[in-house]
Amino acid sequence: MNVQFTDVLVIGTGIAGLMTAECLRSHKNVTIITKSSFQNSNSYHAQGGIAAATQPDDHWTEHFLDTIKAGSFHNEEVLTEILVKEGPELISRLEKMNVPFDRNPDGTVSLGREGGHRKSRILHAGGDRTGSRIVTTLYNRIAGHVTIKENEMIGDLIVEGGRCRGAWTKLKNGEVTVYIAGAVILASGGAAGLYSVHSNDISITGDSIALAYRAGALLSDLEFLQFHPTMLFTHGKSFGLVSEAVRGEGAVLLTDQGDRVMKGIHELEDLAPRDIVARTIHQSLNRGRKVFLDVSNVKNFTKRFPTITKQCKRAQVSLEEGRIPVAPGAHFTMGGAVTNEWGQTTVPGLYAVGEASRTGVHGANRLASNSLLEGVVFSKRAALKILDEPGTSPASISNDLEKTRPGRTLPEKEEIKEKMTRYAGIVRSPHGLREAIGWFERHNHWNPDVGCTTHELEVLNMLQTGHLIVTSAYIRKESRGGHYRTDFPVRNDGEWLKKQVYRRKDYYE
Ligand code: SIN
Repeated sequence: MNVQFTDVLVIGTGIAGLMTAECLRSHKNVTIITKSSFQNSNSYHAQGGIAAATQPDDHWTEHFLDTIKAGSFHNEEVLTEILVKEGPELISRLEKMNVPFDRNPDGTVSLGREGGHRKSRILHAGGDRTGSRIVTTLYNRIAGHVTIKENEMIGDLIVEGGRCRGAWTKLKNGEVTVYIAGAVILASGGAAGLYSVHSNDISITGDSIALAYRAGALLSDLEFLQFHPTMLFTHGKSFGLVSEAVRGEGAVLLTDQGDRVMKGIHELEDLAPRDIVARTIHQSLNRGRKVFLDVSNVKNFTKRFPTITKQCKRAQVSLEEGRIPVAPGAHFTMGGAVTNEWGQTTVPGLYAVGEASRTGVHGANRLASNSLLEGVVFSKRAALKILDEPGTSPASISNDLEKTRPGRTLPEKEEIKEKMTRYAGIVRSPHGLREAIGWFERHNHWNPDVGCTTHELEVLNMLQTGHLIVTSAYIRKESRGGHYRTDFPVRNDGEWLKKQVYRRKDYYE
């Protein structure tokens, strides 16, 4: 078994992990690890853009209001204020790093609009390739300055004496490495990949939530799962996301009978917050209708949306006809490891940033294009805290990882996704949630050990995370944002406003 020492261990190479590494690279010895490659992250695939009030006719207070309205008022308001106030400064920082944000012919920055925003305030790059442009810029900046490990899977975090001291990893060839670190940053995304139809990178298996839980960190809001309204969906298969920015450019949702899906549902119609649009489409589909995005009046579609154009070709959907078949799919996890405004979890030495964290800035339903923003704002803050903290130099650990490998028969990934989709999807019933809880109780029995294969590690994380999501959904007896229950179909501010469903390992053991 190899043992490596590092000041800071960053887990995940999406925007949050890379930004943390970028902020620390000149001051600390940083190791950043991903179980796949840096192109395999949700950040890399992000289409819409990054939201911030950067223009004179906009103000952070307006961005704040849009954010908490979309979040069904479940947001942590102090952190939300930090997000929208510090956003423009982080955008300038990205611009200084030469992130190529798109510009209008007159040289001004081109701003898009998406659901829930009352202003056009979304910066984008390469049309709908914003994520890959930002991630590639950050990756190129850290390359050569920090140790980058790709194709290496975290098995578990190492917590000793009440402090996170590092993690052990596994390679596909079975090799195990122990990293001993002064600080560990969890930045490996959320859990939307636990559903059958989703927009996430294939590598997303709920690892952050399972790792944080097993480390004893406090988690919350796991019942709030965002379903994106428009995945390109045809012949029973999904072909990737169709950005909300398409509706921002004038596309509208129509049924196969030609009716406007969002007419009379919300004052912002097709640009209503995501949870509302996704549920309305879901209802139309359940009534036997097909739903299309009518893009016939979107100007320069192929130039503005090159990724979506490619996806349409792959799905054999002709853009000439101006109609893209769509269905909702799991997209974003609002919950995660609870952090303060410096990215610190409740376990000393362990930070969480980006989708892995529950900063509370998204409330019960994230506002469009606020995720990349959260990734940069709170990663910078976590980095500042690490620089500020004494005691971040490497420590030793007792290093007695057991290789127990008990006999076990694990379910297939597809089986877990089928249960999550059927019982904990856009609409949740008490009966379905009870079925799901029973199923996870029968299958979620094991902690990872160094004898596990990387595939087994992922399945164990999916089981742990799925179990936490379905039980959280069962506990929250109201509907709010990304959590909708048939038995409690309305928001209950009397009982549930700002109330969090917390999860922590030692509550139950
Ligand atoms: C989209 O482009 O519609 C997704 C962007 C986001 O999730 O904020």
